[in-house]
Amino acid sequence: MRRLTAENRLHPAELILPLFVREGTSEPLPIQSMPGVVQHSIDSLRRAVTDAATAGLGGVMLFGVPERRDATGTGAIDPDGILNIGTRAVVEEVGDALVVQTDLCLDEFTDHGHCGVLDASGRVDNDATLLRYRDMALAQAEAGSQLLGLSGMMDGQVAAVREVLDAAGHIDTAILAYAAKYASAFYGPFREAVDSQLSGDRRSYQQHPANRREGLREATLDLAEGADVLMVKPAMSYLDVLSDVAAISDVPVWAYQVSGEYAMIEAAAAHGWIDRGRAIEESLIGIKRAGADAILTYWALEIANSLR
Ligand code: PBG
Repeated sequence: MRRLTAENRLHPAELILPLFVREGTSEPLPIQSMPGVVQHSIDSLRRAVTDAATAGLGGVMLFGVPERRDATGTGAIDPDGILNIGTRAVVEEVGDALVVQTDLCLDEFTDHGHCGVLDASGRVDNDATLLRYRDMALAQAEAGSQLLGLSGMMDGQVAAVREVLDAAGHIDTAILAYAAKYASAFYGPFREAVDSQLSGDRRSYQQHPANRREGLREATLDLAEGADVLMVKPAMSYLDVLSDVAAISDVPVWAYQVSGEYAMIEAAAAHGWIDRGRAIEESLIGIKRAGADAILTYWALEIANSLR
């Protein structure tokens, strides 16, 4: 009876696995603050996406970890930058079995760790950053990414990327807009995962955790600019925002269960303070209940396999 009357359930096709690919390594390297998650080599990335396809996941979201960084994030635009190389390898490996998605943001590639380029006074320059995002979008589309994850929170980024994609004939490359992305402490472990160079914070472009209405405003703007999917991030502390966005959106709405959410449950479970399996499942079904059509989660593969 309980199963039959459940209002929500998890399905592998609605789970997306974030993956990190590191330049210059031949072995996968563990990430201390995210037990079970690694920085992949190209070879181990190929194996990981094959497993993801076999498990029936909806997609993978790729992040690059370059060896060298500079002020403008050149590695993000270089066709031979690690993220673009990784994307080509993944597309070659799994083709259309998964939706291959890429993080479109400069923070992994800049030596100051910000999501954009800086002006003379050291502030993130929104409009100069849009020019870099346009080039990055072309590089990613040419590498075979099917869905570009615009996570930088620059104003006007969706419109800028849509325009350049269409002009270059990439009319089938879709845009996932991190519409409501909050300046969150829960990104902590991710900064280790990508060897982030950031000192300071992202509060001049990411949202204030106190603001709910503003999340809806950001989502509405991205819809108007041509977003194909909207994302709310992080998930657990922003379920009200997720619910608001799901209520107004006429495109799919996803949520990102971020690194800190993963680390909290893993750490508590490792101490024996929480039932790991039940806590993971409850955290995910709560995100579904709040209105997510699909979820990015570092547990995607494990959950998908347990559902089969
Ligand atoms: C930016 C980006 C971040 C995350 C995804 N994309 C970091 C940030 O905004 O500081 C965080 C994901 C996570 O914590 O799991 N490229």
